[in-house]
Amino acid sequence: MDYQKILNEIDAELKQTPNSGQVASYIPELSTVDPNKFGIHLITTKNQHHGLGDSNERFSIQSIAKALSLTLAFSLEKDQLWHRVGVEPSGTAFNSLVQLEVEKGIPRNPLINAGALVISDVLVSRLSDPKKEFLEFVRSLAGNPAIDYGSKVSASERVTGYRNAALVNLMKAFGNINNDIEEVLDFYFHLCSVEMTCQELAQTFLYLASNGINPLTQKAVISSSKSKRINAILLLCGFYDEAGEFAFKVGLPGKSGVGGGIVAIHPNQFSIATWSPKLNSKGNSFKGMKVLELLTTKTESSIF
Ligand code: DON
Repeated sequence: MDYQKILNEIDAELKQTPNSGQVASYIPELSTVDPNKFGIHLITTKNQHHGLGDSNERFSIQSIAKALSLTLAFSLEKDQLWHRVGVEPSGTAFNSLVQLEVEKGIPRNPLINAGALVISDVLVSRLSDPKKEFLEFVRSLAGNPAIDYGSKVSASERVTGYRNAALVNLMKAFGNINNDIEEVLDFYFHLCSVEMTCQELAQTFLYLASNGINPLTQKAVISSSKSKRINAILLLCGFYDEAGEFAFKVGLPGKSGVGGGIVAIHPNQFSIATWSPKLNSKGNSFKGMKVLELLTTKTESSIF
């Protein structure tokens, strides 16, 4: 498969269509990004790299990091994890509070904010220096010790994070948060602020295309069974109330972030990251969704 030719064709096609949507502004620091940035990077499981555009510029990966914190928590906690968080699609927005009251503080899945806050609580309990150890984990996947938190973005989110504070307080009232809520929020805001390029993101997620093995070290990040389960959660929950649309149009497990990034995984084939900051009404990158739809349409290859 000539992926570079296909990516170039996609780029040319998308230059002819308007780039709709709005850059996220509810975290003020995110609104400072250039809305016209656009990058793609694809890495095959045979270590072939294909990229274009701004694929070597770092951006805030936001909710994409929730898949990484989930991986680390699942590897530490094993199946006990699922007593505190479900694996069902929510059909609601990423920051919604509505189900949490009815479902007694057990979030539908680990990728909505409520679920990612429970995962953060698990890591705060399990790790002696959570922020340092999480960053080390991400750096080992990316093969790059320069990956870091974005301190301006985490501080900006802290100031405006009223909904996340509401979610964590509600879950604490139901007994599903064990640690101090400020500590859990601080860890969560940091993990969302991690900055990476499309190339680094595609590299970081290659373990999910490789049955849980980090291709850089040939060591297991997680078992192949856990890798299968994380991919299943990404497919069902990675795009919140647009997860069905993404499965329908793209047919790959993936995860979006309000920084405009998307990662998608084709098991045993490749991982791909896209970046375009303008978001559609569901909070997912407008152009990134189009890139991935065109990719699986042109290659006639998805998980289905
Ligand atoms: O909690 C928040 O609102 C952000 N740190 C993450 C949101 C996000 O990326 C949702 N994904 N599309």
